[in-house]
Amino acid sequence: MKGIILAGGAGTRLHPLTLSISKQLIPIYDKPMIYYPLSTLMSIGIREILIISTEKDIDLFKNLLGDGRHLGCDFKYKTQSKPNGIAEAFLIGEDFIDNSNVTLILGDNIFYSSNMKFNFKNDLEGAHIFAYHVANPGRYGVVQFDKENKILSIEEKPKEPKSNFAIPGMYLFDSNVVKYAKSLKPSLRGELEITDLLQKYLFENSLKVTKMDKGTAWLDTGTFSSLMQASQFVHVLEKRQGLKVGCIEEVAYKMGYINKNDLKKRAKKFMNSGYGEYLISLINEDE
Ligand code: G1P
Repeated sequence: MKGIILAGGAGTRLHPLTLSISKQLIPIYDKPMIYYPLSTLMSIGIREILIISTEKDIDLFKNLLGDGRHLGCDFKYKTQSKPNGIAEAFLIGEDFIDNSNVTLILGDNIFYSSNMKFNFKNDLEGAHIFAYHVANPGRYGVVQFDKENKILSIEEKPKEPKSNFAIPGMYLFDSNVVKYAKSLKPSLRGELEITDLLQKYLFENSLKVTKMDKGTAWLDTGTFSSLMQASQFVHVLEKRQGLKVGCIEEVAYKMGYINKNDLKKRAKKFMNSGYGEYLISLINEDE
C-alpha cells in the first residue's frame, strides 16, 4: 500500500491573505501540521508516500521532509498547479501509484487514536472510507449507512444531511482509482470531487465504510477556531502525558523503520528544543 498526502493551499474557509504559505506547514502546537497525517500513514505501515503541494510551496515541504530515508521511508513530491479538487491527486499521482493500492490523506486532517489500525488491510478490493460522528455534518462529505454498514448514500456538504456521519479525509483505494479519477467531470465549483470518485465505487458496489469509534479524535483545521482547538488538544494531551502526538521520528522508531542510532542522529538535530530531548528519552526508555 502506498500513500498520498494532499497538502496545498489555505483551504476555502481561511482567508488567503492571513496565510502566505500552505497551512499544512504551520505548526499545530509544537510541530508542522503535515507531521500529523504523515505519522498516521506511517503508523499503519505506509512508507512510500507522495506529497502533493502547490508549485510555490513544494520546496518548503522538500526542505522539511527530504527524501524520507532518515525515517526509513521514501518520499516523493509533485505539484498541483491549481486547486482542481482532491480527486486530481490520483491523476497527478498516476505514475507513483503504478497499479498499487493507495491511501489518500488530506494534509490538514489530524487523527488521534490509541489504536490506529482501523482494521487496515493490505489486500484491499474496492475503496474504503471512514465515518465519524460530528455535530455539524453539513460541512463535510456525509455518509448514510444501515445497521449492516451498507452505504445508502454519500453527499458532499449537503444542506440537509441524511446522517451525522462525516467522511474524514482519509480514504483507501484499490488500483482502479486512477481509471475512475480519469472519468470524473469537474463539479459546479470546478473541482474533481472526492465524493464523485467515491460514488463510482459505490455504483460498482465496492465501497465500504468503517465507523471510527469514540476513542478516536478526528480534528478539523478548516477554520481559525478549529486550528486553535487542534493546537490546544495536542498541547493538553502532550503536557498531561509527557508523550508526543504526531512525532514522525517516534513512529519510525516504534515501527522498526529506523534503529536507535538513526534516532540518535535525528535527535542531535533538534537538541535544546525539547523535541530532541524527547527523542533521546525514547532511546533511554529502551535501555
Ligand atoms: C474535504 C472533502 C469532504 C471531507 C473533508 C474532510 O472537504 O471534500 O468530503 O469530508 O475534506 O476534511 P474540505 O475540507 O476540503 O471542504
